[in-house]
Amino acid sequence: MTERCDLLITNVHAATMDPSLPGAYGAIEDAAVAVTGNKIVWIGPRRELPESTADQIIDGEGQWLTPGLIDCHTHLVYGGHRAGEFARRLGGESYEEVARAGGGILSTVRATRAASAADLYRKAEPRLKALMNEGVTTIEIKSGYGLDLDTELKQLRVARRLAQHYPVNILTTCLAAHALPPEYDGRADDYITLVCEEILPAVAKEQLADAVDMFCENIAFSVEQCQRVIDAAHHLDLPVKVHAEQLASTGATRMAAKAGALSVDHIEYITDEDVAAMAESGTAAVLLPGAFYTLKETRMPPIDKLRAAGVPMAISTDLNPGTCPLGSLRLMMNMSCNLFGLTPAEALAGVTRAAARALGVCCSRGVLRAGLRADMVLWPMESPDQLAYEMGALQPAEVFFGGRHVTAG
Ligand code: NIG
Ligand code: FE
Repeated sequence: MTERCDLLITNVHAATMDPSLPGAYGAIEDAAVAVTGNKIVWIGPRRELPESTADQIIDGEGQWLTPGLIDCHTHLVYGGHRAGEFARRLGGESYEEVARAGGGILSTVRATRAASAADLYRKAEPRLKALMNEGVTTIEIKSGYGLDLDTELKQLRVARRLAQHYPVNILTTCLAAHALPPEYDGRADDYITLVCEEILPAVAKEQLADAVDMFCENIAFSVEQCQRVIDAAHHLDLPVKVHAEQLASTGATRMAAKAGALSVDHIEYITDEDVAAMAESGTAAVLLPGAFYTLKETRMPPIDKLRAAGVPMAISTDLNPGTCPLGSLRLMMNMSCNLFGLTPAEALAGVTRAAARALGVCCSRGVLRAGLRADMVLWPMESPDQLAYEMGALQPAEVFFGGRHVTAG
């Protein structure tokens, strides 16, 4: 019997990233991939392809096919910019000093509150397109520059609207516990009450968030305050993620792991016990080398220990106006190798399989496997190592979003 599918791609090498296949890339040389609807229905060596007919057949010309890239931590909906702060930091002021002087996150809060939803949408579009042009098919977008009910809702609605207009999966995260808004100065516990009792329930009611995040740090919220946010999120059936231990050791990672968080992000200052707690709970590490680079940090996340413990290591842009105004996930792959010592295969796993874990969507994407979404990128390269190595000239030849061919570049 002849199988029928919508799309058949042949004459490609597949870096499946499937850990059940041998090799760091789970590579299948001279592969074929069959797609029906928005899913992969068959993938394997071309010589094993069952006799098939397809509405469309694409000759991959010996290029490499990877899963669509996943940017699992961004703050790409915001108002204004912070080029002035960049100059101040170049002059010697630290991120913390700028933040404590009322700049940093709070300066973006002022600009985001002042912006209309239409302005925020227009400003976010080129950031989104920059990521999509390099083969990103799933993007997480956080709020956190509103810090009041209306502006948090405004940011999340803009993120949801982007998803309606662009061929990309967008997952949204409510980060209302990102910084203390000026009107709550000296009353952090009261602000956390607002987050737990008003902002999160309103966000959940409108189904505006797929997860809840928080900034657990000396310049933001304490472990106790974050635990309240976690409890409120769980009460609303929302999974949690934590910006943890970027600037100091706080205990945030252990708290997050104990709560079964999807991910802990940054984690430059985590301890051996934290790594063990993450391994036990299955919490992913999200490494943000662009923020590390921008802040000229020197303390590295404990990569060897995370690797040895088998903790999934995702890599993301953290795209935001303060600590990482760098909208390139491919550049982050390169930085994760050069700054953190990941291998090129770990870098690709970090923006595919592990990033899907960090978003709680690994049952639908992140590897090329029958039954998963046909989010795929065809790259004009001879080795998948080139993805973390070669910036600029190496661009996707084709991007497929749910089996649909979308224009690359
Ligand atoms: O992930 N750490 C907190 N949040 C962002 C920075 C946000 C900002 O500076 O605007 C981060 O680095
Ligand atoms: Fe962040």
